[in-house]
Amino acid sequence: MKKTLFILCMLPAMLGAQGMWMPLHLEKQNEKEMKAMGLKLDADDLYSPTDASVKDAICIFGGGCTGEMISPEGLLLTNHHCGFGSIQSLSTLENNYVDNGFWSKQRSEELPCPGVTATFITRMEDVTIRAMQGISEGMSERDRQAQIDKNLTELKAKTKKEAWEDIVIRPFYNGNQYYLYITQTFKDVRLVGAPPSSIGKFGSDTDNWVWPRHTGDFSLFRVYASADNKPAAYAPDNKPLKPRHYLPISLDGVEEGDFTMVYGFPGRTDEYLSAAGLKQTADVVDPARVSIRDKALKTMDAFMRRDPDVKIAYVARYASIANAWKKWLGEMQGLKTYGAVDKKKAYEAEFLKRVNNDPDLKYKYGNLLPRLEKLYTEIEPYALAREYFFETTVRNTQAFGQAQLLQNWVKTYDDNGEAFFVSKKSETVNAMTSFYKDYRPVVDQAVMTGMLEMFGENMRPGWGGELVKSQAALVGGYDKLVEALFAESTVPHKDKFEVLMEQSPAVIVQTLKKDRMIMLWNELSDNYKNFVQPKLQELQPQIDLLQRQYMAAQMVVFKEKRFYPDANSTLRLTYGKVRGYQPRDALHYHHQTYLDGVMEKYIPGDYEFDVPQKLIELHKNKDYGRYATADGRMPVAFLGSNHTTGGNSGSPALDARGNLIGLNFDRVWEGTMSDLNYDPAICRNIMVDARYILFIIDKYAGCPQLIDEMKLVKGQRKKKK
Ligand code: ARG
Ligand code: ASP
Repeated sequence: MKKTLFILCMLPAMLGAQGMWMPLHLEKQNEKEMKAMGLKLDADDLYSPTDASVKDAICIFGGGCTGEMISPEGLLLTNHHCGFGSIQSLSTLENNYVDNGFWSKQRSEELPCPGVTATFITRMEDVTIRAMQGISEGMSERDRQAQIDKNLTELKAKTKKEAWEDIVIRPFYNGNQYYLYITQTFKDVRLVGAPPSSIGKFGSDTDNWVWPRHTGDFSLFRVYASADNKPAAYAPDNKPLKPRHYLPISLDGVEEGDFTMVYGFPGRTDEYLSAAGLKQTADVVDPARVSIRDKALKTMDAFMRRDPDVKIAYVARYASIANAWKKWLGEMQGLKTYGAVDKKKAYEAEFLKRVNNDPDLKYKYGNLLPRLEKLYTEIEPYALAREYFFETTVRNTQAFGQAQLLQNWVKTYDDNGEAFFVSKKSETVNAMTSFYKDYRPVVDQAVMTGMLEMFGENMRPGWGGELVKSQAALVGGYDKLVEALFAESTVPHKDKFEVLMEQSPAVIVQTLKKDRMIMLWNELSDNYKNFVQPKLQELQPQIDLLQRQYMAAQMVVFKEKRFYPDANSTLRLTYGKVRGYQPRDALHYHHQTYLDGVMEKYIPGDYEFDVPQKLIELHKNKDYGRYATADGRMPVAFLGSNHTTGGNSGSPALDARGNLIGLNFDRVWEGTMSDLNYDPAICRNIMVDARYILFIIDKYAGCPQLIDEMKLVKGQRKKKK
């Protein structure tokens, strides 16, 4: 008994602790455990609302990723796949930064990236009490939300901030708590360096979500500010940002069992769903998404392999569609393999046992789970239809996305009058122009053919399925239908669109109203709006309400448990250890990969596994400079038991003293289920080793001036205090 208790208590220290913790509660919730696991800092070194702390080095990069300051002059480190949109859109066949990489040798060569931002957090605050003022038990959901919105608007108006700062308020624990953030967003961000895809994207989609991994998934940017170090729009004479804190980089490397933390902006998790909700994702939603994207991706891939022009135009789009596709696939498999639904059921049985033992709890929470289950059953066909509608149209078929945009514009002519319509013209034309830059109608036509077939064959007949199916039958097949759509519509054709834009507003509107692509989009979306959406709008808020109550109930019923809020794109710290894992009997994964492994995977000229000549030579000559391990090898990536998710890409992996030891970029295949079912024995995050990053910058790219800006530290691992 004593022994099991000991093992149970030691479990977090051995494996790492589940959770994405809020920086302002670290002292209360985590400091003790973190120190027991090896942390050598205090909680307020990591987060302080007043003094410079590690959090001041961390930012939201470009909306969906994390970045961090690694020099006193605004140098920002993030993933290659996070900077990839910028790298791709700055690339042409002549200046192909995707294939060849990009390295600026001096500041004047750094490339502005319009639209890319870096957002830092000044401070955060619990505002739950003020958000909930005037809320009562029996209130309808609509009244409740209206009251909260009113409270938050007032709160924003009353909160002190500087002119260059913003206020963001977010719900936590499914809407049981609210927190306010004061942020600063820098808008002048420039590309400094990116390795070629054969390093930064090595292994590409085949290796994505998989260990062992050999990707040098990093890129460098610089944040620029006004002369007084404040956010400013792009201007050639802006100055490099002087951050409040930047991360020293450790040359020590890692050993199994070392303490690590990952500090960043995880996007979304659903760890507290009911078994019914989890089952729906695993059995219905994920499989639908996976089968639809499977088709879209195969079509795109065939074109990309044949034509270098298509490849460069579609490579970023493909990567992002493929990334989610593969994650959902891993997720649904992992949930099955590791019995996630049964684990939830066991948890719910314990919940019910405790609830039924207490009359008060029984009265309040006794019905929650059966009601949730009933609602999930009711919503299922609509949830499936939602996936079918969005996946086959706007998410995977580009022409539908643009048809939607044009339809919204056309609608303003009738709704708001000609003057308003004209005032929106340049915005619309700009959006279409940038769309056409990377658009190849032949590819989209083939994709749409597959998508409409999936829609026609699988969507309920009365919800639009029959409409598409019969149109296709009428002309002799889905391919014929889509061929005609592409031949007759303006939407897919830049030249046709430009000619149309020369016409008077009335002619533009008339033409677009009769455009076949836009008409089909309207029919499909009308079907969705009439038959699917109303039911979703009726049921989803009921599920959300019960989920909010179930979340609160779990926190009351499992008093002994520490609850972290689900990820919601706010700043979190997660911690764990450097660790390999054992996904199956007799199979053990080592925690570290090396450059030798890159050479093992090398396939000359391959789309995914080519290796640049220079790297081959550096490997042959073991020319690793000061970045090699003690036994003369070049480390590439390592594993840890840090609880991360999408959005954590580009997050720094820190050692016990807050030095950067790696760059988070992925999770392992068996653990992709971690957004719904984190299992400390299986779930691992993947980080690029900091030494590999430095080696590529210094030895491969020949940019010692960048290394000189940074603060490299050594001999910290072994230091006692
Ligand atoms: N799976 C990682 C994440 O979710 C890396 C994605 C980038 N790589 C790719 N091959 N698409 O973002
Ligand atoms: N690759 C992910 C990201 O881009 C990280 C993850 O999902 O583990 O944020």
